[in-house]
Amino acid sequence: MTAPIDLRSDTVTRPTPAMRRAMAEAEVGDDVYGEDPTVRALEERVAALLGKDAALFVPSGTQGNQIGLALHTRPGDEVLVTRGAHVALYESGAAPALSGLQLTPVGAGGPFDAEALRPELGRTAFYQARQSLLALENTHNHAGGLVFPQEELAACAALAREHALGVHLDGARLWNAAAASGRSLAELAAPADTISVCFSKGLGAPVGSALVLPAEWRDEAIRLRRRLGGAMRQAGILAAAALHALEHHLGDLEADHRRARRLAEGLAEAGYDLDPTRTETNIVVFGVGAPNAEWLARATEAGVLLGGMGPGRIRAVTHRDLDDDAIDAALRALAPLAPA
Ligand SMILES: Cc1ncc(COP(=O)(O)O)c(C=O)c1O
Repeated sequence: MTAPIDLRSDTVTRPTPAMRRAMAEAEVGDDVYGEDPTVRALEERVAALLGKDAALFVPSGTQGNQIGLALHTRPGDEVLVTRGAHVALYESGAAPALSGLQLTPVGAGGPFDAEALRPELGRTAFYQARQSLLALENTHNHAGGLVFPQEELAACAALAREHALGVHLDGARLWNAAAASGRSLAELAAPADTISVCFSKGLGAPVGSALVLPAEWRDEAIRLRRRLGGAMRQAGILAAAALHALEHHLGDLEADHRRARRLAEGLAEAGYDLDPTRTETNIVVFGVGAPNAEWLARATEAGVLLGGMGPGRIRAVTHRDLDDDAIDAALRALAPLAPA
């Protein structure tokens, strides 16, 4: 039996032999004492790439986001988020459970503009929650990997600041946003105070994320990371994989995007419900006209692994462990399962 084509996520990639060698050879120290040179090198590299002063290596994107949210807020505060935001839907309730935050969705789903944000700002009465943060996401996972248009993101951030809110950016796939938009990472990061980025998604590292932040916030972020159980010892072994990914894999994301567009076009031709022009990066969301569990079981039987994204909606994610042939094979396998 041939191995299934795994389109569930860009997190399913395996480290390459060269990445494994970089990990094995990493110079390490105890990062809880701040003595791991490879972690330091990664943090400096990421901060420089995003044009900010500092970064903190963390085990996961969820932890990076949650430290970011906590840095900006006090328990009881309101955070304005995109509708369908990862911080609201997919972090196991961390923001209300761990930081006592009330998350208010803005817009119709995914990226929005300043006019959608304006009516949500200015709640200042004593009986209302203090509004302290706008948290955006780029690319937007739930909206099918859409790039948040930079002018709109900057306008939303500026409007939030007029109301004394901080700005956090969930940039788990900021690399994809940069590849798709042709803008630099620093340009995309500029409107935000804190940005979380992930090395374990399209870049192919096995573990790891970073929270990019102002240097004077780093000590408090280290405290919060420890509180969440994220203080790691010889973490340079993991940071080496991330450094290797930044060095060698960033340039491959455009191929993932091209394959996602090919997949989207093929699915649309086969009769699935989607607009391929909305596939801007490596995520394809499509309607299957059937209950998810039933359709996903048939897709698995046909040799393709995918995930649900709302009722009757399926998510496919391209990644560096899939080539053009895998996309063509997935299309052949999924064509007979298209809605009639
Ligand atoms: C947009 C976004 N943010 C954050 C995360 C969380 O990353 P992790 O799974 O490393 O906690 C993910 C994970 O897929 C994501 O898609």
